[in-house]
Amino acid sequence: MDFFEQRLPTTQHLLQSANLARKSGASEEVVLACLLHDLGGGLVRAEHGYWGAQLIEPYVSEKIAFAVRHHQPLRFFPDPAYDYEYPKAYFQTFGVDYVPPPHVIATYKKIRAHKWYEEARLITCNDLYSFDTEVVISIDEFRDLIGRHFRQPEEGLGFDHSPVAHMWRTFINPDAPL
Ligand SMILES: [Fe+2]
Ligand SMILES: [Fe+2]
Repeated sequence: MDFFEQRLPTTQHLLQSANLARKSGASEEVVLACLLHDLGGGLVRAEHGYWGAQLIEPYVSEKIAFAVRHHQPLRFFPDPAYDYEYPKAYFQTFGVDYVPPPHVIATYKKIRAHKWYEEARLITCNDLYSFDTEVVISIDEFRDLIGRHFRQPEEGLGFDHSPVAHMWRTFINPDAPL
């Protein structure tokens, strides 16, 4: 909750994505995955899905971490079964002739055949057009859901000696001296 309120530059985008997912009847795990999907962007810009998944991996189900990690490559690949189209905004961001690099295409093929493909795909479905400046959603609306699906360490994130504690400490204080 503190990270949402104090450290994340994309708070409303995440809250609105989660809200859309919830309204569409998605499972609680998918709603939480949507809520956390761009968390990595608060730490680094490149490869944000992978960084975000690593940050949450010790504290959420494998399925949620899988979905967060793989929404990143999935964004580039349409899926009519989910009414997911290639985002028009990407023509500007990546260029009209953009073709994802071979490692991204290879990852996509693997995810496509995975049992949790749907969870990752649903993040992309609730992602792109979810930012509406007229709508303001509060993190409080997800407090109970976070409580049910996020294992908060007693010592607090960054201080529990988990393999990713240093990443949370960097999140807390990105300008700390070496
Ligand atoms: Fe993303
Ligand atoms: Fe996003």
